[in-house]
Amino acid sequence: MGVPERLTRAVGALRLAPDAWVLEIGCGRGAAARLVLERLETGRYLGVDRSETSIRAARENVPRADFRCEALERLSVEGEFDVIFAVNVNHFWVRDPAAEVERLRGLLAPGGSVTLFYETPGERSAELGDRLAAVFARHGLRPEVSVLGPKLFAVAGQSPSASQTSHR
Ligand SMILES: C[S@@+](CC[C@H](N)C(=O)[O-])C[C@H]1O[C@@H](n2cnc3c(N)ncnc32)[C@H](O)[C@@H]1O
Repeated sequence: MGVPERLTRAVGALRLAPDAWVLEIGCGRGAAARLVLERLETGRYLGVDRSETSIRAARENVPRADFRCEALERLSVEGEFDVIFAVNVNHFWVRDPAAEVERLRGLLAPGGSVTLFYETPGERSAELGDRLAAVFARHGLRPEVSVLGPKLFAVAGQSPSASQTSHR
């Protein structure tokens, strides 16, 4: 399975501790899952996608990862994730993603982060980055917009790190 450069860059930009719990939204056929697993030791990866075809392919491509067929709008996942990310999942920008961001925030471990990566032309990225950053800020996530390439950018939202309480 060839790995598109956007995924190499996106996963490379994530702060992944070896024991991180990672949730990917819109995991497609599992290409990013493999890159994440290469960086985990005792950590866990869970990928969700609403497409059954994609999830079937992901399970074949990366048997040691955990995948579920679910839509972001009806996520039944439980847990405390250190890292939640999505690459090119337009759900977050074609509508107001307030409810989904709130749900994801509730799945974050203290100090954890949600990062949305998008490939989009430069003139669009600034406006979109500002808009998503504002949504994160409204939901108590400290936003940070980064440019990772000529067309690839990321909006991260970090939850406050409360105590050093751990789920592990
Ligand atoms: C453009 S593809 C990107 C796939 C992969 N992240 C990548 O960059 O190669 C978008 C993926 O997100 C999934 N997706 C889109 N909207 C979704 C939603 N609301 N809930 C779950 N998955 C969604 C699609 O099924 C598709 O696999």
